[in-house]
Amino acid sequence: MSTLFGFVFGVYPYICFTLFLVGSLIRFDQNQYSWKSDSSQMLRTGTLRWGSNLFHAGILFLFFGHLLGLLTPHSFYGHFMQASVKQTIAIYSGGAAGLLCFIGLSLLIHRRVFDARIRATSHPTDIAVLVVLWVQLVVGLITLPYSWAHSDGSTMLILADWAQRIVTLRAVDAEVLANVPWPFLFHVVLGMTIFLLFPFSRLVHVWSGFASLSYLFRPYQVVRSRRLNLPPGHNQPPHPGARIGSR
Ligand code: HEM
Repeated sequence: MSTLFGFVFGVYPYICFTLFLVGSLIRFDQNQYSWKSDSSQMLRTGTLRWGSNLFHAGILFLFFGHLLGLLTPHSFYGHFMQASVKQTIAIYSGGAAGLLCFIGLSLLIHRRVFDARIRATSHPTDIAVLVVLWVQLVVGLITLPYSWAHSDGSTMLILADWAQRIVTLRAVDAEVLANVPWPFLFHVVLGMTIFLLFPFSRLVHVWSGFASLSYLFRPYQVVRSRRLNLPPGHNQPPHPGARIGSR
């Protein structure tokens, strides 16, 4: 195993995740007006509706699929589901979501590059993020036949154990990945790089997308009418913002 290999799979993940977390925190703290999805819907709706909806439906499925699939320890599901079954579910569901995402993302890239108004208002990172996600998606789709070839789930278990060690800050041995086929390794490295790009791009809106779920649990807004609280016969004092004559 070369030193570079050891660095990429043993050290680089920590650099990416530290920058992802600390960078997001600093940007949120220092530059909140730049914290947005930067929608271009006002410029042109056109293919955005199909492109964005297909892309987001696909990417959200893939995101949670990766999160659950990679980070659930085998001991949690091993007694009711074999690794090979989990792998087959991942191939079919991930393949379908990947295809939707691919169509949506291709529409978004086409629109951003070939629509003069949208291109003119795009930041270089807007295009970079779309291209990086597109390459990641294509390589992810290329891994499907390789996964099929290892349908016993063995490669998946190696990658999952490696990822679980990274996020739980346990020692990793990069050498375990030495025999994993190249599309998986490329996919892993680019995946980590996306976390690295996260705080420096519009991807920060993903934090807010997930945080907006807290809206469902927010306390009720209490609205009290001052007029109803007045004793009968009392004239209501005009509200500072009220129109003259309005009741
Ligand atoms: C958490 C839920 C999410 C919400 C609520 C959300 C919302 C939005 C909104 C409102 C826009 C701007 C409108 C548009 O251009 O479609 C947008 C754009 C975008 N989102 Fe998300 N998003 C979410 C998750 C994600 C994820 C997981 C990714 C990828 C990792 C992502 C990547 C993008 C990209 C690349 C664009 C720009 C598309 C373009 O070129 O116009 N989003 N998102």
